Amino acid sequence: MSKHFKIPAIASSEITPEPVYLKRRALMQAAGLAALPLLGGVSRAAQGEETTGGAPLAYREPDSAAGGFTTGEQATPYADVTAYGNFYEFGTDKGDPARHAHQMIIDPWSLEVDGAVRKPGKLHLEDILGGFDLQERIYRLRCVEAWSMVVPWVGFPLADLLQRFEPGSEARYVAFETLYRPSEMPGTRSFTSTIDWPYREGLRMDEAMHPLSLMAVGLYGKTLPNQNGAPVRLVVPWKYGFKSIKSVVRIRLLEKRPRTTWESLAPEEYGFYANVNPNVDHPRWSQASERRLPSTLFSPNRIPTQMFNGYAEQVAHLYKGMDLARNY
Ligand code: MTE
Repeated sequence: MSKHFKIPAIASSEITPEPVYLKRRALMQAAGLAALPLLGGVSRAAQGEETTGGAPLAYREPDSAAGGFTTGEQATPYADVTAYGNFYEFGTDKGDPARHAHQMIIDPWSLEVDGAVRKPGKLHLEDILGGFDLQERIYRLRCVEAWSMVVPWVGFPLADLLQRFEPGSEARYVAFETLYRPSEMPGTRSFTSTIDWPYREGLRMDEAMHPLSLMAVGLYGKTLPNQNGAPVRLVVPWKYGFKSIKSVVRIRLLEKRPRTTWESLAPEEYGFYANVNPNVDHPRWSQASERRLPSTLFSPNRIPTQMFNGYAEQVAHLYKGMDLARNY
């Protein structure tokens, strides 16, 4: 496996035999090379869930609920998590990602990390799936459009990835970009699209290094379906879903705040911070409550929205002294 690792390789001093073994198993399973039993155990959230597609991943169970790494709330069924979503590269209808994202080629894949880092470099698909300690994280995801779900992701902390590339002290922001390949992405070819592709997002460095910021490679114990952002996407559970950029190909560390897609399109509606906040309404709708999927016209399943999407205890200190109505 090591011959597949490009710069930066993991220092051998960091590796203990068991994780190497587990990672190799994860890699082989993800690559479909061997039909091996699941090592991480079946996700508790996934038990009894019908899942399709995806290669099984080896991962460990979530850390403490106190840290926000898991929730006692019912996970949204796999069918809803994968059928309903936003991925504008494939169209604006909630069903378009599931209909069209199979066209996106995700193997080979490379993720470039550069900018204010001491060791710029690239991760390839096998490094992404097999080079990190995978863990389950059961998070709420709250879309700015006021629908929400609970998703059992599998991934690794964004901090683990950034540290490999040795951020410089001048790095204050992190910028992310999604793959832009029009031949595979009908939404980017649409004449009605006003988005300046690729899809871009950003975080402040302290937000990026927070232990809840996750690079997800799977859900329900298997590799991500394309529509959910395969092979690797960001998940920032205390922010509106548009911050959780899918199918990431580039990460740049910057001194200055990057321009992001939704902020560029409508700055008065979508801010850079985009922290979930029931007290600050979107100019066109209330953010006080949300529709938890599965939700229907007759059974909307409306619940109150929580400050920082329920992660205030873990993240409120990041915004101490900031006016959250101005910095929305
Ligand atoms: N990433 C890209 N590249 N393109 C998108 O259109 N939509 C965002 C986010 N990431 C989007 C994206 C929005 S608005 C939401 S709510 C979440 O993805 C939805 O993620 P899900 O489909 O996995 O639920």
